[in-house]
Amino acid sequence: MVVIQSEDKQRFIDELIDLLKIPTISADSKYNDEVKKGAAWVKNALQKAGCTKTEIFETKGYPVVYGERIIDRKLPTVLVYGHYDVQPPDPVELWDSPPFEPVIKTTKLHQEGAIFARGACDDKGQMFMHIKALELMVNQDKLPCNVKFMIEGEEEVGSDNLELFIRNHKEKLENDVILISDTGMISNTQPSITTGLRGLSYMEVIVTGPNRDLHSGLYGGAVANPINVLSKMITQLHDENNRITIPGFYEGIEEVSDHERLRMAKAPFNLKDYKNKLNIREVSGEKGFSTIERNSIRPTLDVNGIWGGYTGEGAKTVIASKAHAKISMRLVPGQDWEVISDLFKKHFESIAPKSVQVEIIKHHGGQAYVTPTDNIGYQAAHKAYTETFAVEPIPHKGGGSIPIVPLFEDVLGTKSVLMGFGLDSDAIHSPNEHFGLFNFFKGIETIPLFYKHYAALFKKK
Ligand code: BES
Ligand code: MN
Ligand code: MN
Repeated sequence: MVVIQSEDKQRFIDELIDLLKIPTISADSKYNDEVKKGAAWVKNALQKAGCTKTEIFETKGYPVVYGERIIDRKLPTVLVYGHYDVQPPDPVELWDSPPFEPVIKTTKLHQEGAIFARGACDDKGQMFMHIKALELMVNQDKLPCNVKFMIEGEEEVGSDNLELFIRNHKEKLENDVILISDTGMISNTQPSITTGLRGLSYMEVIVTGPNRDLHSGLYGGAVANPINVLSKMITQLHDENNRITIPGFYEGIEEVSDHERLRMAKAPFNLKDYKNKLNIREVSGEKGFSTIERNSIRPTLDVNGIWGGYTGEGAKTVIASKAHAKISMRLVPGQDWEVISDLFKKHFESIAPKSVQVEIIKHHGGQAYVTPTDNIGYQAAHKAYTETFAVEPIPHKGGGSIPIVPLFEDVLGTKSVLMGFGLDSDAIHSPNEHFGLFNFFKGIETIPLFYKHYAALFKKK
């Protein structure tokens, strides 16, 4: 087991804070220079931690940072994936402290303190655990595998350029297993290993009525109001049982076995707590499925943003010419994101009344992924968590998406192990994102044990 000295602990926190200060917002081109600065920071950190070779690869979008420490060709190679880009912090006014000025505070769930900043958990904090774990393994002479790092800067905008990158660098990225900390676990007393990610299809719709904004008195009642129409179209996308009405949407979905559903039902989950924490009186979702199932093994459709007309101060009587919405669908195994995007487009066009025109833009997407538990990667992770938490981790399907993970398997032919250390309550993508120091250091302790057990299991194979 590696040891973390207390002066190292403080230094690790300080270094992470330094990284968190860089606003690497990939979605907003205003931050172009900052995102690139983030890539350079990561390259330097990899170098200092013991990578013997580090490189920055330019892509059509943001650079990919690569690092490696190859100690012996006969030993297995672990490829670490993570991302240094972050989500926009908006709405900034809902943060208790500025998103790029990290502070440490305690919370009910994080009695030992948590770092508050955009990216603290997703994914700078979690990605950085791997860099520090490498540093400790190298310094304490406990690195039992070859290591490669591939840290990207476009995950939060769909990893559009990464597929080509991995296709072009297959040999460089050759590995036996891919290790990722970009998901969560159930709680600090019940660790879990993520065994599934949902796919994603992201759409944007524009509904146009009259060719200009109109006085709502002069024209109201006689001309279709695009915002009214869009709202009605959106409502039609779910039926009374909260099932999605797009024809063919559920076709081909792989059934989850009763055995698996039973296992999911046994995982620690308290509905009352869940509702209390979100301040909602009732949960809502597809009929016939539990809350845990609804947010992991079932597909969904959500409006992420909707705008149009007058939203400024006071009132303005107007019928807007255009209404807009961004709509995403989370997908499960058996659904193909490109097919789903086409089905959405066709259906949305078909339900549009003649009084308006619709334009549909297909944004990014990705396939769902399931990690098997009967491989040495999963087993090594299981042993590692069991040692550091003194509790066996349980498999857990995550509701989020990491588009490159299924492509890793297609292109590089290897499986990913999703060792997340965040909590659902860490507010990723939301105001006041944070990452517990307990979680950060548990991660740094658990990762070297993964390497140890993986190397041992690999040898036995
Ligand atoms: N780290 C998340 C994905 C995640 C979080 C998976 C928690 C499972 C549990 C990742 O950074 C993310 O936010 N992905 C996006 C997808 C992307 C195409 C924008 C997502 O899930 O919305
Ligand atoms: Mn992430
Ligand atoms: Mn994210």
